[in-house]
Amino acid sequence: MKHLLFLGLLALAGATQAQQRTAFAPGQPWPDNKGTHLNAHGGGVLYDQGRYYLYGEHKIAGPKGNSAQVGVHCYSSKDLYNWQDEGIAFAVAPEGSGSEVEKGCVLERPKVVYNKQTGKYVMWFHLELKGKGYEAARTAVAVSDKATGPYQYVRSYRPGAGQWPLGFKEEWKQPVPGEKDLKWWTPAWYKAVAEGSFIRRDFEPGQMARDMTVYVDDDGKAYHIASSEDNLTLHVAELTPDYQGFTGKWNTIAPAGHNEAPALCKKDGKYYLITSGCTGWDPNAARSFVSSSIWGPWQPLANPATGPQANTTFNSQSTYILPVAGKKDAFIFMADRWTPKNPIDGGYIWLPLTFDGFQPRLTWADKWDLSMFDQPKNGTKTAQ
Ligand code: GAL
Repeated sequence: MKHLLFLGLLALAGATQAQQRTAFAPGQPWPDNKGTHLNAHGGGVLYDQGRYYLYGEHKIAGPKGNSAQVGVHCYSSKDLYNWQDEGIAFAVAPEGSGSEVEKGCVLERPKVVYNKQTGKYVMWFHLELKGKGYEAARTAVAVSDKATGPYQYVRSYRPGAGQWPLGFKEEWKQPVPGEKDLKWWTPAWYKAVAEGSFIRRDFEPGQMARDMTVYVDDDGKAYHIASSEDNLTLHVAELTPDYQGFTGKWNTIAPAGHNEAPALCKKDGKYYLITSGCTGWDPNAARSFVSSSIWGPWQPLANPATGPQANTTFNSQSTYILPVAGKKDAFIFMADRWTPKNPIDGGYIWLPLTFDGFQPRLTWADKWDLSMFDQPKNGTKTAQ
């Protein structure tokens, strides 16, 4: 009995200890309130009624863990350092059910937004159908009455079906003979991509959607941003007022720029986009863009990362930019350190996103906390 009491006290002490994180330690194991490394990869954060909710891919051990075996895991926090396990917010459908979201599908980069008009929490994610590799290139939506779920599956989409993007010229609407045979990365091919060769190809079924994010603007309008056209071009598309579908208004970003892992924020009326290049699970140098309108034109800027390992974004790939509640111009860059051989071990790189003029900046810090955002505002102080 005494022994049990002792063990109980030890467990309690452990739990209390796990509750007392006061800083971010990028790349280090990040225990939740039960002492288990967070399992929310390719994640995003929703701030709702004084609490942050983190959603991400629940991964399992072993290579099978790169496909969805469980679903989307949710955690909640008041301070961003200490996360409480809220369980599986969206569960994959049982194996053999024939559902688009059945166990073994690919379900990546879940992002949740709250819709004030409907009072629903809306989750979007990149969906690939079971056994079909990455060819389906769909985006999918699920809804819930509660932030923590359970989310009910609604449907999947190929966005932009039957809709040309903004500014698409009349003469671009007809197929160009030979365009499919052009050699990739040649000047003629770049021109063809910029003038819609892939958009024409996918006009009827709808445009491909792989790595994605969802952004809600100050006016309550929401946008879906995804890697499309064989990952060559990002597409930004307006969501319907209930955030569960597409209005049909969309545009391209950086045609043939080969951008993945889009993450977006807004500061002083300008939109900033951080992306990665396309090297699968291997990290590469991040890119950044600025625009006065979500529809563009997006001006390419430099790699936001500086210092050692800037060329691999500190061995990580962007997933989300988190605005810190109640602090002006305080943004956290969230990224994944993928471990595809044992996906459950994947690490999290959260760093302060600062600005040098218009240029977003990321500087490595072994340890940092939110007080770095409390300095006199020029936004350029780096973490220790
Ligand atoms: C990455 C992408 C991940 C995942 C992976 C699969 O480029 O960002 O979300 O799709 O490829 O190889």
